[in-house]
Amino acid sequence: MKYTVVLPAAGSGKRMKADRNKLLLELSGKPIFIYTLEVFDRDPDCEGMWLAVKEDERELIEKYVEHYGIKKVKGYAAGGAERQDSVRAGLEMARQSEVVLVHDAARPFISPAVIRELVERANESGAAIAGVPVKDTIKKVREGVITETVDRAELWMIQTPQAFRYKLLMEAAQRAQADGFLGTDEAMLVERTGHPVQIVESTYENVKMTTPDDLIYGKAILESRLQ
Ligand code: C5P
Repeated sequence: MKYTVVLPAAGSGKRMKADRNKLLLELSGKPIFIYTLEVFDRDPDCEGMWLAVKEDERELIEKYVEHYGIKKVKGYAAGGAERQDSVRAGLEMARQSEVVLVHDAARPFISPAVIRELVERANESGAAIAGVPVKDTIKKVREGVITETVDRAELWMIQTPQAFRYKLLMEAAQRAQADGFLGTDEAMLVERTGHPVQIVESTYENVKMTTPDDLIYGKAILESRLQ
């Protein structure tokens, strides 16, 4: 089943404590976002990628894309102040898609098998997102004191990719914008329309490169893949 992918890549390096967009940091000599693009570039079902980038980083990102021989980038959208704005700008460009995936450029270790499953489920049901069951005990805390231990049997940590029928996601994104609703993922926008969102079990390796310790984990994943 064919699909296209929108990759928000217009973030900063704040939580990474980096002086630039963390996606440009290198893991074993290659920028983080290039690993992500390579996964989709190699997937025969991927028909094209749209990247949301900051205007002043576009030239550099384009150079990297060319240098690493990435073939399926169809265009660049202007990234916005919030991730949700960046995704919406990317979606505007991906108009001819039937099924669209949204994937954080900061998650370089996504499994091709999970992508396949997401695309199939989104095609059937409209919306499917990647996640993994919570491993730790989760508690709610107020002013340094536990107020509740949450039953973790029903808790999942949500990742990207998040896959949708294009029309469903676009309408949900437009509705969110009109209502001034800001979500932390695309599924939240679709959930508030009442449309059910399915979950596909992903891998714990599909971590988002967010803080400096994630880079250590990222290097370890790369090394384990070479063995
Ligand atoms: O900051 P965080 O890691 O949660 O961002 C997730 C993804 O969204 C990253 O790939 C980042 O580049 C992107 N992003 C964006 N526009 C923003 C903020 C984040 O494209 N305004």
